[in-house]
Amino acid sequence: MAYFRSATHVFLWGAISLFIACSKPAPPAAAAPTPAAPPYHPVASIREVMNSVIDPNVDVVWNAVKTDIDHGKQIEHAPANDDEWAMVRHSAMTVSEGANLLMMPGRNVAPPGAGSLSPGIELAPDQVRALIDKSPSGWNQFARALQDSLQPALDAIDKKDKQALFEAGDKIDEVCESCHQVFWYPQQGTEAAAPKTASAAPSGTAR
Ligand code: HEC
Repeated sequence: MAYFRSATHVFLWGAISLFIACSKPAPPAAAAPTPAAPPYHPVASIREVMNSVIDPNVDVVWNAVKTDIDHGKQIEHAPANDDEWAMVRHSAMTVSEGANLLMMPGRNVAPPGAGSLSPGIELAPDQVRALIDKSPSGWNQFARALQDSLQPALDAIDKKDKQALFEAGDKIDEVCESCHQVFWYPQQGTEAAAPKTASAAPSGTAR
């Protein structure tokens, strides 16, 4: 069986190379095919994606519908015209697509040399990296959950439904919080994907 398979292989490869040879000028000898490098190139670290893409834009979604109290008077805020609804939609879409940025492999956790901003509470970037590498699928599930959590907001925006947009905000917040609890500041009892050693690590190896 194996023999036949490899014989077919050889035949196929022969046919393919013949085809290539006929259709293209001969390539330089011995140019071994290398797996194509991905065309994309991460520029921002995860920390910077949070600060530049996710956080400012989710704030627009969260603040779109709210009630302020001014001198004892309630002041309702909500998008009031097509342009304002469009602006909220741009931000909701940016967070939604920003979730894909989080799933791209090869992105640093923080800029080179940066440490934890709250040592002892928040893990250092190399510790976050270790957790992600230990559970890349867990990481991707949270990123995907973030993306999915924006859909009710997008639907509400498309219907110009203020109440639904307001309610969609809570669900988004829950996803932010649950990923942070696992990958950024795991505490006892909350680490679903975090190994035991990680929660003990901050005092010792934090840089
Ligand atoms: C897939 C996991 C994940 C999701 C989902 C996620 N975050 Fe984060 N976030 C992280 C990690 C990891 C860090 C820590 C990076 C670092 O070392 O500064 C972080 C850090 C941050 C920071 C701090 C950046 C700094 O300079 O200290 C902010 C703000 C933030 N996230 C906001 C959000 C908000 C808002 C959401 C939801 C809309 C969200 N994140 C969703 C993983 C996630």
